[in-house]
Amino acid sequence: MRDGFSKYARRLAPGVLILLAGCAGDYPQIMTQPVSEWGQIQIDIWALVTWWTVPILVIVIGVLAFILVRFRERPGGPEPKHVYGSTKIEVIWTVIPAIIVLIIAIPTIQAIFALQEEVPEDALVVEAIGHQWWWEFRYPEEGIITANQFYVPVGRPVALMLRSNDVIHSFWIPRLGGKRDVNPVVRTPEGVEPMHLNHIVLTVDSAGEYLGQCAEFCGTSHAIMRMMAVAVEPEEYDAWVEAMTVPEEPEADLAQVGHDIFMRSTCIACHAIEGTRAQGRLGPDLTMMGDRFSIGAGLMANTEENMTEWLLHAPELKKGILMPGARVEAGGMPPTALSREDARAVAAYLASLRLPDPLVPAPTAPAADPPAGAEREPAAGEREPLPMGPEPESD
Ligand code: CUA
Repeated sequence: MRDGFSKYARRLAPGVLILLAGCAGDYPQIMTQPVSEWGQIQIDIWALVTWWTVPILVIVIGVLAFILVRFRERPGGPEPKHVYGSTKIEVIWTVIPAIIVLIIAIPTIQAIFALQEEVPEDALVVEAIGHQWWWEFRYPEEGIITANQFYVPVGRPVALMLRSNDVIHSFWIPRLGGKRDVNPVVRTPEGVEPMHLNHIVLTVDSAGEYLGQCAEFCGTSHAIMRMMAVAVEPEEYDAWVEAMTVPEEPEADLAQVGHDIFMRSTCIACHAIEGTRAQGRLGPDLTMMGDRFSIGAGLMANTEENMTEWLLHAPELKKGILMPGARVEAGGMPPTALSREDARAVAAYLASLRLPDPLVPAPTAPAADPPAGAEREPAAGEREPLPMGPEPESD
C-alpha cells in the first residue's frame, strides 16, 4: 500500500509542481483584477456565478459519493427499486436546474446590456484596428495614429471602436476586461460594407501599463499580436497628445545617419513617422517607436540590437509578415537591401524617437513627499524586457 502510494506520488509530483508554479509571480494579464468598470461588471458576474454554483457542485459530488458507497452492490443484496418513468423525480430534476439557470440569467442579462453602452458625448474615441499581425490605434479627434501601444487618460470614458483590416481578430487586454471580436470591413463590388462592428466603452480607474493580445486565431503569427494600453493621468495624456503631434529631430550622429537612410529607403512606402516625409500606411506607424514596449507586436524587447536583427531578418523572426528582410530568399516582399551598418543606424534612429521623460515636467519648486504607499512611476527604460521572443541569430 505504502509502496503503491509513493509510486503514484512520484508520478504526480511533476504535474502538481507545474500547477503550483502557476501561483507564483505577478501577472500582467490577470483577469481577476480589473482596472475598469467594464471589466468589473464581468468579473462580478463571474464571481457571483462561481459562488452560487460551487456549493451546488459540492452537494452533487457529496451525494454522489455517499450513494456510491452506501448503495454499492453487495453479494446477495436485493435488486434496487426501479424509478424509470417516475414523474415526481423528473419534475424535481427539471424544475430545480431551471430555477438555478433563471437566477443566474437575471444578473447576466443585466450585465450584457450594461456592457453594450452607447458611446457617451465626452468619450475619447480610439479606433482599434486589427491587422495581420499588429494593432493600429487612431485618435480621429487628436489626429494621432500609433501602433501596438496606446495611451488613455485615467477617469475619462474611452470608446474603443473595433474593426479589422483583414480577418477577424479579438481585442483582449485582460485587466481592462473581457475579449471582444474585431470584425472586418468587407469590400464588396457594391462598396465597403461593414460587418457588425463592435465597440467597448470603458473608463480606466488606475494608471499603469496593461498588456493584452489578440484572442482569436487569425493566421500564422496570431500568437505575436500583442498590445499595451498605457493609462496615465489626464495632464500626462495631454502631454502625450502634444508630443505625438510635434516632430522630433534626431540628435545623435548615428541616429541622424539612420534618419537619412530611412527617409531615402523603401521604409517610407509602408511606415509613417509624424512630422517627416514618411507617410506610408501599410505597416505600423512608427512615431515615438523608441518608447514602444516591444518590436513586432510583442515579438521581442525593444532594444537597438533586436531592432537591427528585425530590420535584417523580419520574415524569419515573425512568420508570414509583409515586412521585407535583407535576404532575397527570406520571402515576403522585396528585400530592403539594408546592410548591417545601415540597419544599425536605422535602429539608432528609431530608438531616438522617444517621448519626453517625464511626460509632464516636474515643478521646479521642491515637491512634497509622495503620500505613503504611493506607487512610484517607473523611469524610462526601466520596463522589464519581454519574457518572450527568439534570440536573433547573427550572420
Ligand atoms: Cu489577430 Cu489573432
